[in-house]
Amino acid sequence: MSETTPIALVVLISGRGSNLKAILDAIERGELPAVVRAVISNRTDAAGLDHARRAGIDTLALDAADYDDAESYDRALAGLIDRFDPGLVVLAGFMRILTPAFVDHYRGRLINIHPSLLPRYRGLHTHRRALEDGADEHGASVHFVTEELDGGPLIVQARVPVLPGDDEQTLAARVLEQEHRLYPQAIRWLAEGRVRWEDGRVLFDGEPLEHPLQLDVAP
Ligand code: GAR
Repeated sequence: MSETTPIALVVLISGRGSNLKAILDAIERGELPAVVRAVISNRTDAAGLDHARRAGIDTLALDAADYDDAESYDRALAGLIDRFDPGLVVLAGFMRILTPAFVDHYRGRLINIHPSLLPRYRGLHTHRRALEDGADEHGASVHFVTEELDGGPLIVQARVPVLPGDDEQTLAARVLEQEHRLYPQAIRWLAEGRVRWEDGRVLFDGEPLEHPLQLDVAP
């Protein structure tokens, strides 16, 4: 069991919340020194909010329709998040493009998971695009968030093969299974201080990371 002081998380979701659930399960099993202080969704009907409610965690929904523009939405969102004083803000399927002011406010403590081997396939429909390209491998990445969409410094990736006969669903499921291992691992390294952000670079055990860590082969 880790002696690390638990890192305080606020998790942002938009939908199913399976990555949120993987994080909560890892905490529950004692494998992740973290505490989820709040889960916030941009959709009041996000199914993933139930995972948080079942775990007795505060849930909040902030509907963009109630705000004039992205700037005022993100200001309200940051106001909510900061009430919980998180050490790390975790985007787990939060499907909004964040404003530069928001990103700047959380620089170095805002991370995202994306279903591709970045820098390949930024944006949407990553599994479909990998199949269309005839890629023989695919995967998921965890990265610090910057103003550049899906472009911030990479922390760790998980790779999966693309198999003959794969369709979007089978490939997405194979990637998602790895996402559920990848995100708790990345957060654990951040909690332990093994992964750190410094001046726009990722340090691992105090050394700049030249290439993203690879799940299963990482030290
Ligand atoms: C995950 O596959 C995540 O990587 C992706 O949305 C899904 C959310 O699933 N995120 C993005 O595409 C962000 N660009 P979940 O709600 O079950 O965790």
